[in-house]
Amino acid sequence: MTVRLGDTAPDFTAATTQGEIKFHDWLGESWGVLFSHPKDFTPVCTTELGYVAKIKPEFDKRNVKVIGLSVDSVDSHEKWESDIGETQGTPVNFPMIGDPDRKVSDLYDMIHPNANDTLTVRSVFVIGPDKKVKLTITYPASTGRNFDEILRVIDSLQLTAKYKVATPVNWTDGDDVIIGSAVTNEEAEKLFPQGWKTIKPYLRVLPQPKK
Ligand code: BEZ
Repeated sequence: MTVRLGDTAPDFTAATTQGEIKFHDWLGESWGVLFSHPKDFTPVCTTELGYVAKIKPEFDKRNVKVIGLSVDSVDSHEKWESDIGETQGTPVNFPMIGDPDRKVSDLYDMIHPNANDTLTVRSVFVIGPDKKVKLTITYPASTGRNFDEILRVIDSLQLTAKYKVATPVNWTDGDDVIIGSAVTNEEAEKLFPQGWKTIKPYLRVLPQPKK
């Protein structure tokens, strides 16, 4: 099944390293990041999981729950996690879904047979508190992801969910933002009484509103 932006994130029940979860219930009111790994005991994945464990406080701060997945079993994940803690310096502090029957991988189209017909690709899904999919990214198995970029996008998603603004190229939290193109100047005067700079009629810039 292809999961696209704006779709409701498919719900599922699965075994994880922190017990069985029903995905939507587990998410509750939080944002979520669901990310897949090709296979347990692989080097790039080991570094990714260690890094996500290290920056988990950054996800917590943003009210985001993180959950990993690979096509191996929970037993296997548990054994692998001790290597991750040992080599990456931070124990894995979020659940990992065991998906040996590929139920969740298939639901989220995480196996791309022309890349590899048994391993999951490196998928990332960011899910909003409304359970809608806000971001999808797919990386090849050989390229580790940039989880600082995932945090940056979450900052933009959370800001743009609250204000009628968009964020420009390479924006990071605190930088100037852009008034959304659907917002008329008349509406903008009400929304942003502090004013903005008009570079072109379609390019109106203002300091980032408070989050
Ligand atoms: C890795 O995580 O290192 C990896 C997994 C599958 C294929 C290539 C690399």
